[in-house]
Amino acid sequence: MCGIIGYLGYREAYPILLNGLKKLEYRGYDSSGIAVFRKRKYNLYKTKGKVNELEKKISFYKIKMKGNTGIGHTRWATHGIPDNINAHPHVSNSNELFLIHNGIIENYHAIKIILSKNGFIFKSKTDTEVLVNLIEFVQKKNKLSLEEAVRISLNEIVGAYSIAIVDKSNPEIIVIAKLGSPLALGINEREFFISSDPVSFVNYTKNVLYLRDGEMAILRKDKDLDLRKIRDNHKLNPIIKELQINLKEIEKGNYKYFMLKEIYEQPKSIRDTLRGRLLIPNKNIDGLICIDGIESNKDIFINAKSITIVACGTSWHASLIGEYLLEELARIPVEVEYASEFRYRKPILGKKDIVIVISQSGETADTIEALKLAKKRGAFVFGICNVVSSYIARNVDAGAYTHAGPEIGVASTKSFTAQITVLTLLSLIIGKYRSTITNNRYQYLCKELKSIPEKVSQTLKIDDTIKNISQLYCHVNNFLYLGRGINFPVALEGALKLKEISYIHAEGYPAAEMKHGPIALIDEKIPVVFLSTKTGQYKKIIGNIEEIKARKGKIIAIVNEDDIQISMLADHIIKVPKISEELNPLITVIPLQLLAYQIAFLRGENVDQPRNLAKSVTVE
Ligand code: F6R
Repeated sequence: MCGIIGYLGYREAYPILLNGLKKLEYRGYDSSGIAVFRKRKYNLYKTKGKVNELEKKISFYKIKMKGNTGIGHTRWATHGIPDNINAHPHVSNSNELFLIHNGIIENYHAIKIILSKNGFIFKSKTDTEVLVNLIEFVQKKNKLSLEEAVRISLNEIVGAYSIAIVDKSNPEIIVIAKLGSPLALGINEREFFISSDPVSFVNYTKNVLYLRDGEMAILRKDKDLDLRKIRDNHKLNPIIKELQINLKEIEKGNYKYFMLKEIYEQPKSIRDTLRGRLLIPNKNIDGLICIDGIESNKDIFINAKSITIVACGTSWHASLIGEYLLEELARIPVEVEYASEFRYRKPILGKKDIVIVISQSGETADTIEALKLAKKRGAFVFGICNVVSSYIARNVDAGAYTHAGPEIGVASTKSFTAQITVLTLLSLIIGKYRSTITNNRYQYLCKELKSIPEKVSQTLKIDDTIKNISQLYCHVNNFLYLGRGINFPVALEGALKLKEISYIHAEGYPAAEMKHGPIALIDEKIPVVFLSTKTGQYKKIIGNIEEIKARKGKIIAIVNEDDIQISMLADHIIKVPKISEELNPLITVIPLQLLAYQIAFLRGENVDQPRNLAKSVTVE
């Protein structure tokens, strides 16, 4: 978690750092800070709260943030509460070295004891302050250059980091390094841009170097980049790539929040996920699905003994839908695991087992560790990621990008539908390879898949109905979401969306399971959202609705346009287009995303930056 940023060049650093930090706020926003250097002088300002707060205070106190070198940080607290002492940059005891850090130093406590014995004093509760003082200690003791002190210190560190460090007596140099947490370097003639995510410098340069784990770079003013291995100082050749980011994708446009924009982008993002992979069936040609990462590993998928899908949060909900699809269409036994649990178990895996890791960001710490474990155990690891070139994308045996485009709202929306789309394609291809589905069914589902973007567009038109329902229920304390079969994970996702952005307690449950406990919660004050489209379990859902009604719960039912029976029972209905059971989640989740958004909006919450959360969870 946390976003780091830096600049070294000929322009004023402060505006570049400030605007860059605003683009990194999805990574954390509980406190922030910027340090700018000029000759031997510096200005450092840190504060609790969002980057806007930092900007306001710097301008209120008329702090002159002048200089062509600078570093900045936006924080999601791990060690120490969010306040201006724990905020970054952290400064060494001699007031010489300034450090920003994203990640966790696991052995910081032991190092802190050693440094304390050597006279170092700590003001904050952070692991970062320990690291900057370790570097100072190593540098002074051995009379080393900054880069060598950084290198030697990092070799003593256990944990994950991306860092940038400046020595105020020589601000013509910034040293950066990476292990685990992401770090991108933008390169122009006579200037360097450092960031956790290149979206923050794409308006200045499209030339980017993604540092790999175990690499550090010494950036010197007006000099070429010096890239090294942290372990042995071996010099490396930088591989510079061209950034493929469309600026429009990272702007809010006319939308009040990124989340709303991303919900409305789903017809396009699903179309992008399908593009080039689903050859559209028509009168003359049969439909065909093709994904390179599967095509080139056909035998592995045909002969798979089992599939384990590993993910966190919303991606875990998509995995549950994947389980249903793969078992239904490809007839392979599937288990779904929380990455944070899987990584500490001793999974029974071998060459014939496939592990699918799903992650929007491709940098979720638990999912990364799960991936490493799966590889160690000999499984074939397939990745489904959104962020191109992210750690997970680079380290799987094969994979498929979701192509949903940058997702900036902290609550995941378009990534979820893109992940399900990839899982559907995957299940259909494998089902076809293994002859576990008939050609007729395959062709039919290809056609249905093709119609999804249009049906999502139609579904998005129910916004007014959702607004009315949200007005009625935005002040309740509890919500229940119920679904069966493939719609059960959608209930979980609907509940997660609501609680994370509106702070209303919400639970998702399999509809039939509620009589084993949660039904005790039902009274006239609790709204219950039913996923009640026409699937194989429609009749059973009617029974579950009756049970809630008998206890005076308020029913909000997601139904198909031609529904009669449930429409007569429910207090409120939200109509969505009809689609095959397998593709239901791609449609039924849309009203739940809108409902969560509208309720949070009416409650006056900051939808894009919910409290305590961050977009990528790069700590365990
Ligand atoms: C919820 C949400 C999180 C993420 C989870 C995994 O809206 O966004 O639950 O889904 O942190 O993140 P990724 O998919 O990046 O691994």
